Amino acid sequence: MWSSFKFGLAVSFLLPYALLPGYGYVPKTGLIARQKENNGSDNFLFDYPGQTKLPSLEDLIRLNSTNGTFLPVDDIQGDILIGMKKPKQLFFFYQINDAPMFKAVLRRLIYPFITSTSQLICTTCPPIKVMLNVAWNAPGLKKLNVFDDLLDPHFNLGQVADADALGDVPGRKTWVPPLAANKTHGVFLIASDDDAAILALLNQITTWLGTSITEIYRLSGAHRTGAMEGHEHFGFLDGISQPAVAGFATSVMPGQSLIFPGTILTNVLGDPNLGARPGWTKHGSFLAFRQLQQFVPEFDQYLLNNALNDPSASLTVAQGAELLGARMVGRWKSGAPIDLHPLVDNPAVGADPNQNNNFDFNHPLPFNINTDQKRCPWSAHIRKTNPRADQPSLGNHIMRAGIPYGRDTTKAEFKANKTRTERGLAFVSYQSVIDNGYRFQQKAWANDINFVPGKSDPTPGHDPIFGQNGGSTRFSSGLDPWNPAKDFKLKDFVVSRGGEYFFSPSMSAILNPIAL
Ligand SMILES: *[C@@H]1O[C@H](CO)[C@@H](O)[C@H](O)[C@H]1NC(C)=O
Ligand SMILES: *[C@@H]1O[C@H](CO)[C@@H](O)[C@H](O)[C@H]1NC(C)=O
Ligand SMILES: *[C@@H]1O[C@H](CO)[C@@H](O)[C@H](O)[C@H]1NC(C)=O
Ligand SMILES: *[C@@H]1O[C@H](CO)[C@@H](O)[C@H](O)[C@H]1NC(C)=O
Ligand SMILES: *[C@@H]1O[C@H](CO)[C@@H](O)[C@H](O)[C@H]1NC(C)=O
Repeated sequence: MWSSFKFGLAVSFLLPYALLPGYGYVPKTGLIARQKENNGSDNFLFDYPGQTKLPSLEDLIRLNSTNGTFLPVDDIQGDILIGMKKPKQLFFFYQINDAPMFKAVLRRLIYPFITSTSQLICTTCPPIKVMLNVAWNAPGLKKLNVFDDLLDPHFNLGQVADADALGDVPGRKTWVPPLAANKTHGVFLIASDDDAAILALLNQITTWLGTSITEIYRLSGAHRTGAMEGHEHFGFLDGISQPAVAGFATSVMPGQSLIFPGTILTNVLGDPNLGARPGWTKHGSFLAFRQLQQFVPEFDQYLLNNALNDPSASLTVAQGAELLGARMVGRWKSGAPIDLHPLVDNPAVGADPNQNNNFDFNHPLPFNINTDQKRCPWSAHIRKTNPRADQPSLGNHIMRAGIPYGRDTTKAEFKANKTRTERGLAFVSYQSVIDNGYRFQQKAWANDINFVPGKSDPTPGHDPIFGQNGGSTRFSSGLDPWNPAKDFKLKDFVVSRGGEYFFSPSMSAILNPIAL
């Protein structure tokens, strides 16, 4: 809790910062129009449903000269503040064998392909067909003769050492062997419209690098398509409650948190270690990667077996299953928050960034946020990982840039042969302090049965979606008429297959000191 407490202080600084001219600015056409053209020849950034619109580079440059200071977006890798917003993305993990050769190839050949934020939001530049971002873990930086302490203990120790603390099955039993082997030094994140373009760039890069690296592991992500576009594998609309980052956002949606850039980026305003880290860490970010397998048929079956009914017993089993799923997540599959629409979905609200975050779990009297969970259970996924009025904390936000992976096995296929291709979420979050961001959300919030404290039920339960609890999951309480007086004994529907903590440096730091 120390970090939330510490960041309570930041609230008092937020007001003048929020009032900086420029934050009332509403982006007009530009990239918004361009994002929508993603079905045509001009494929650029996809406009997934319900997500906040991006500022354009032209907006930022214009506002920068008259209305306040905006971040130098040409120095920030593209994935950090906005994600690469492409239908396909490859994560390629490697070990470095030959540092001088690796550095030379990185500097001369790979660097021109690395995509900055300004390239992604520039509306007058040629669209980028294949996007590349790069990051290294602590042993990787050492291997490249960068010995500075970045002042993040969990980055320094690595995620292999952190697995038990994160709640993974002890001994990393569920981890994929290449990630459990603790041999990774770096990762390439490559995104495009199709796998062929991704593989072409990867092939080029690995040819250049030759024997200076060895592949450790790769994971291919793909957004779902059609009606499920932007939805994760359980079917819920994803990516819709990102914070607005001051110095980048040109508008703040209703209910959206406005945070300091230093909550996400290292060594800028709001980073608790501002000034103490090595100078070159400015405009970088720590990347927490997790491969999270989702057990979709089990989840669906669980919802059917435990389908809720309202007091008038008017719901069908299918509707009751839908309602239980919505109460476990805190949103309907459409993205509509149950805090606003507790009983009936409202897809228009889910798809509208002006409405889909416009709630904080509190309501006018006689509603009591500490005794009443008729609207949203205290342990619903989106409430555990972003408690809003339950426990306001600006310093624990993350930027998410993950993508689903794996194929959609149909129920029929699964019934037929009881095997399925693994699928889940290639989870990526960016934060300036791992233990304030991803790690905090997982450990102190999602996995902790006692969080949020101060409720009439002192043990509100684990996050039923994201909690890593080795099977001992409790969801919600007997005080909720929609959850009869019993604890739901959940299985783990999401299981960690491993991960790593990386540092994603600024564009300038890639050249110096990393590729120097
Ligand atoms: C930016 O500043 C100019 C000059 O002070 C002002 O006229 C304009 O309204 C501001 N724009 C926004 C979006 O705040
Ligand atoms: C893209 O979608 C728009 C409508 O959203 C449609 O008018 C246009 O023909 C589509 N373009 C292509 C190339 O499919
Ligand atoms: C805004 O101005 C600052 C200070 O001159 C500069 O460093 C930064 O790159 C500018 N940002 C943009 C988006 O132009
Ligand atoms: C992982 O490897 C690094 C060296 O590359 C080592 O320092 C660290 O102790 C290892 N972690 C574990 C848990 O084995
Ligand atoms: C069995 O599962 C595999 C992988 O999901 C799939 O390719 C195959 O078509 C399935 N076979 C049957 C008979 O459903």
